[in-house]
Amino acid sequence: MKIAVVGAGYVGLTTASVLASWGHVVKLVEKDAQRRTQLEQGEVPFFEPGLAELVRRQLKTPAASGEFSLQIFSSLEPVLPAVELTFLCVGTPSRPDGRANLDQVFAVAAQVGKNRRSEHLLVIKSTVPPGTARQVADLYPQRVASNPEFLREGSALADTLHPERIVLGVDRVEDAEILRRLYAPTGSPILVTDPTSAELIKYASNAFLATKISFINSIANLCEKLGADVTRVAQGMGLDSRIGPAFLGAGIGYGGSCFPKDTLALEKLARQVGYNFRLLQATRLTNLEQRLLVIRKLEKELGPLAGKKIALWGLAFKANTDDLRQAPALTITRRLRRKGAQVVAYDPVVAKKPLSGKGPGPALVVDPYAATAGAHALVIVTDWAEFSRLDLERVYWSMAANPVLIDGRNLLDPARARAIGFRYHGIGR
Ligand code: UDX
Repeated sequence: MKIAVVGAGYVGLTTASVLASWGHVVKLVEKDAQRRTQLEQGEVPFFEPGLAELVRRQLKTPAASGEFSLQIFSSLEPVLPAVELTFLCVGTPSRPDGRANLDQVFAVAAQVGKNRRSEHLLVIKSTVPPGTARQVADLYPQRVASNPEFLREGSALADTLHPERIVLGVDRVEDAEILRRLYAPTGSPILVTDPTSAELIKYASNAFLATKISFINSIANLCEKLGADVTRVAQGMGLDSRIGPAFLGAGIGYGGSCFPKDTLALEKLARQVGYNFRLLQATRLTNLEQRLLVIRKLEKELGPLAGKKIALWGLAFKANTDDLRQAPALTITRRLRRKGAQVVAYDPVVAKKPLSGKGPGPALVVDPYAATAGAHALVIVTDWAEFSRLDLERVYWSMAANPVLIDGRNLLDPARARAIGFRYHGIGR
């Protein structure tokens, strides 16, 4: 098939290169000139294991028609007459009031509507409020389907090649059939429903997972008061197949481009249609408090933080990504600096990125031991596997006397850390 993909972010770029690898001709449209140049040179603007290699390969691989299987364009207009399907993968950032900003979605839909051919299908992959696909079809008459994406950063390729499920929201059986055929190589279960339910499945899934994390973090806080170990509690809960073990990792809370934005958007959307979704408000507030718990633990051990040197291991919102969007590390850094502490951070892949949000970020170093040298405390912020393999004794001796270790991801063995001499604090154990 000939397919257009609009937007070369995580979702668009992964979708485009995977579709190309299945033998389709994919015309990837990206409006940002710098990003286009990077991609044309085979560079991926973010860290995602395996993606750059796939993009480079597809840019040079001819499809059956003789055209290259992955091509990059600056605008959709010249592409539209040649394609049967357009995947819409543009951003839907938060508005100041928390609702999703759909400007880019509507701009693309308008363009497709204007240049449409009757057999063309617009497939919305961007996370959009329930009702958007139908609204788009009303405003700019055309065939529209919803096909939300559930890929995770860090495992985006595997999640796209073999997703646990594919959700198709369509108004016509024929549209479901086109997409069913397209996704046949995945072998994944496919759920076909109406567009609005498909859109809600995406929000509900993210909100549910975020709620699961806030729930286990609340249990972790209770564990600290009761002298229980949350990792054992989570293990015991997870053995119940109705609960499952995933997303029961207590820590300093969730971040990233989806959970914070989508839970807030769903909460706002609910309010807009006259429903007070109290549970989501609690999920969100619990998550914020969880980040600040680190500061409270540090103050309890070190007293006032002014003049103290605090080392952070990890800045990205989770391991295997360089994404700093809504990263707990940024909130923690801002609070620490406001209290007069000196913050030094090491992250295996976040080199020198502009740190979003207010205030200056931490000083970045390229070595984990350089970060801890002379520090009063070390906080493990991201669950990078390498942190559990570093030489903790060396770290201990590099730090100021009687150092504090806050293990924000419960990565280390508490008994071992304490035996070395650290004032060790995990989360909920
Ligand atoms: C998420 C969804 O998983 C994915 O389906 C959707 O398409 C986009 O949003 P992602 O943001 O890449 O993916 O990361 P994910 O692995 O889900 O983790 C989200 C956050 O939750 C991270 O900050 C992570 O550290 C945190 N988390 C996850 C926990 O704190 N505990 C856990 O047990 C699991």
